[in-house]
Amino acid sequence: MHSAIRLVTEVPGPNSRAMVARREAAMPPGAAKLTPIAIKSAHGAQVIDVDGNTFLDFAGGIGTLAVGHTPDNVVAAIQAQAAELIHMCAIVATYEPLVALAERLNSLAPGDFRKRTLFMNSGAEALETCVHISRSYTRRQGIVVFDGAYHGRSNLTMAMTSKFNLFKKGFGPFAPEVYRFPFPNLYRRPAEMSEEAWIDWHIRQLDHNFMAVVDPSHVAAVVIEPVIGEGGFLPAPSAWLRRLRALCDQHGILLVADEVQSGMGRTGKLFAIEHSGVVPDIVATAKSLGGGMPISAIIGRAEVMEAPHPGGLGGTYSGNPLACVAALKALDTITDSAFLKRATEIGNVMRERLLVLQARYPSLIGDVRGLGPMLAMELVKDPATREPWMEATQAVNAATLQRGLITIRAGLFSNCVRLLPPLTLTDAELKEGMDVLELSMADVVRTLGLA
Ligand SMILES: Cc1ncc(COP(=O)(O)O)c(C=O)c1O
Repeated sequence: MHSAIRLVTEVPGPNSRAMVARREAAMPPGAAKLTPIAIKSAHGAQVIDVDGNTFLDFAGGIGTLAVGHTPDNVVAAIQAQAAELIHMCAIVATYEPLVALAERLNSLAPGDFRKRTLFMNSGAEALETCVHISRSYTRRQGIVVFDGAYHGRSNLTMAMTSKFNLFKKGFGPFAPEVYRFPFPNLYRRPAEMSEEAWIDWHIRQLDHNFMAVVDPSHVAAVVIEPVIGEGGFLPAPSAWLRRLRALCDQHGILLVADEVQSGMGRTGKLFAIEHSGVVPDIVATAKSLGGGMPISAIIGRAEVMEAPHPGGLGGTYSGNPLACVAALKALDTITDSAFLKRATEIGNVMRERLLVLQARYPSLIGDVRGLGPMLAMELVKDPATREPWMEATQAVNAATLQRGLITIRAGLFSNCVRLLPPLTLTDAELKEGMDVLELSMADVVRTLGLA
């Protein structure tokens, strides 16, 4: 079988090294860089670096490429749109792709109620704007977020984000009125507790925290990632989400689903929250929505979205025509039931392969988890203590890259290997990627002296 990966130099090759050296001379080190390779072109699940090496991409632009790199329909739509109208500014005038995309998302988002959609450019902007809208509607200030959350890097979304050292160190003070509650991380429950008991404890903890941490009458919105992304691919248990929904209903709080990473087919459904049956008042999505173009969308109940005064929302580039046509084409692909079925199949294959690896290395792979094809494995020094092993995770990411597979880490402790392949990849590419992961795990186990 012809393999996708083709390495013709060492990794990184000389051209990558030279390009990265230029980057380091021209850009600050604070701009994160997870691999030392420089890319020339990409299509589907394959990327070609500046030395002519072909890699399989299981990072997918950190979950931005559900429809793969340079999908033909997205490229054609961007090219045609570029010849007609690249930018107008939706504050200045209206154009069809903007309206069509809003109409489309209104009809696709969960909830049997009238909706309105607003566009922004990034996940952080979307989440920040969700807060503005929620405060405007409820005339309250408090925002509840959870342990392990990642909502972005603006000052307000940084206040909402967990993981102090990597994301927040030295950048404070942060926006006030953000309250953090515990999240039911099933892996890190006390050894003597069942999953059910741990979820129940967190359900009771919600009531407790609405007394001990903040009064519900002060809270505008509860913001939840249905699958915690950067925090380590932790699906929110459905029973706990249902309780959150009930408490929000009881106290007039808006439930905001941050589906920036988990949305757009990444879990085998258009929105991850659909797995639970819980309907949020507002859903924010981005990443795979744009087929690679920067665009985010906030879709919410009409009466909530209409609360801010005319002129209170928007931005120069929000709903850019190129991004809108790209998103319309990406949605054509993602909303095809065959695409979502295939995404689920990919998830099943990946999960099976990861569980085989866990059975082989039970002392290293503490947990395999996720939802559909949004999957990660958490690496630990000891499965009994669950002590996180960040260095082993970095070693796995480095080892897969040496063999031609791009993977990245996640997790509050940076000790999860997360897999976000394009969901358009072929069976052969999927098998090859998982084979490489398996070989790379064996490399790392040998190097760490665990074999
Ligand atoms: C769940 C979630 N929310 C928000 C963001 C922020 O998105 P952006 O990087 O586009 O600002 C991310 C980015 O990874 C995310 O995963």
